[in-house]
Amino acid sequence: MGCSQLFGGHGHDSLFTAREMDSRWKSTRKGTSRAFSTEALKAKFPLVLKKANELVEIIRGTSADEAIDFQPLFVRFTLDTAGLVGYNIDFKALQNKHCPLFEALVYCSSEALASSANPCRGVVKRLFPSGKLAQECDKLYGQLYNEYDWILKELRGRGEPAADDHSLWACLMRLKDPETGVPLDDELLCPEVATFILAATDTTAHQAMWAMFAIAALPDVQRKIEAEIKGCGMFQRLRKGGVDRLTYSDITSLNYLTMVTKEAMRLFPSTSLGTLRCTTKDGERVCGYRVPKNTYVIACIHALFNAPWLWEHPEHFNPERWSNQARQEASEVDARSERKGATRSFWSFSDGPRDCIGQRLAMMELLSVMAVLLANFEFRLADKMGGWDGACSRQYNAMALAIDGGMWLQCHPRTDAA
Ligand code: HEM
Repeated sequence: MGCSQLFGGHGHDSLFTAREMDSRWKSTRKGTSRAFSTEALKAKFPLVLKKANELVEIIRGTSADEAIDFQPLFVRFTLDTAGLVGYNIDFKALQNKHCPLFEALVYCSSEALASSANPCRGVVKRLFPSGKLAQECDKLYGQLYNEYDWILKELRGRGEPAADDHSLWACLMRLKDPETGVPLDDELLCPEVATFILAATDTTAHQAMWAMFAIAALPDVQRKIEAEIKGCGMFQRLRKGGVDRLTYSDITSLNYLTMVTKEAMRLFPSTSLGTLRCTTKDGERVCGYRVPKNTYVIACIHALFNAPWLWEHPEHFNPERWSNQARQEASEVDARSERKGATRSFWSFSDGPRDCIGQRLAMMELLSVMAVLLANFEFRLADKMGGWDGACSRQYNAMALAIDGGMWLQCHPRTDAA
């Protein structure tokens, strides 16, 4: 079973897996983009805060001396947020240790990767259908598809969405086959429903994890964020009980926190392998090289973000490189650069027509959860992480840039007032 199985067992493409930008891709992209407009995101902002608050409660329930592994915790947070924001369904992955969707997603994602890397796994499963591997796979893929079916049934059960509802689920329910004008049936809709869960969860969770890692490891950076939150009078409002008075614009106005987030996304891009494209014409030029038709080309985001000819000391965590002034100076240098096409841009969400449709939601989630966490706790890297270098040496590429052994942070509740 390859990665395509993760999107449901029907064998149909989705917005994410479509190889061609054909009429189906175009109609799905157009039909769902409204769910990510500023207006739509503002309406969903309280749901993100609600989940950030639940996270605070879970951390409060753990002793301050005990380190917490933020890798699975953030996956639970982003899965819940994807469900609430996109489908108005609370998967309760944060509240319930046992959450069938969370368990199936974690197992099937890692199994899909292992099978792509080692095709022998597929052979073993076919040869030994009653063996442990085949049985476990059948069970957890079955669980995953049951969950997708349940979500789809729940969405269908709501009937036709109101005309002014621009939630993702409402946009999906309105999708039609561009050739026939017939609404999508369950087989075509299931991969789209799955896509928005899969694309939103691991990516955002691991990005939040690496940003919190940098913040916990660099006390000066943490102090500056604290000062920013206090300086704009948001400290108390971000603490428990006050979050309902916060707005989307409050969060997006946190400039320093935004710079820290972008710098974490540069140094630890969760989609570090980047973008895969296939050339459609013979002799197409990619970075000056002639490439034959039907050749796969990868734009590796990690390499672009760490190229020493594009970034000054790329190995340094330096949020200031994203300040407005630094960005302006950089673009002047880029304009003079003789290396055509090499600009110091923010590529985390890719670029062009296939860029990330959920990027503004992802930034809203990242800024919100970090602001809420930092107003409530002071973070420190647990000793067992082995410091900055120890953690970096255990990075590996799973569905997103992950860390072997977990991201263990020490969280100390703040008692100070603004
Ligand atoms: C920090 C979090 C995220 C990162 C780093 C990220 C990154 C990316 C990247 C690099 C691509 C382009 C892939 C390619 O070119 O092949 C992409 C595509 C996509 N992303 Fe995200 N993403 C994030 C969060 C989200 C969220 C929250 C959603 C939805 C709720 C989402 C939905 C999608 C979809 C549907 C596509 C495919 C778009 C298309 O092909 O038209 N992503 N993402």
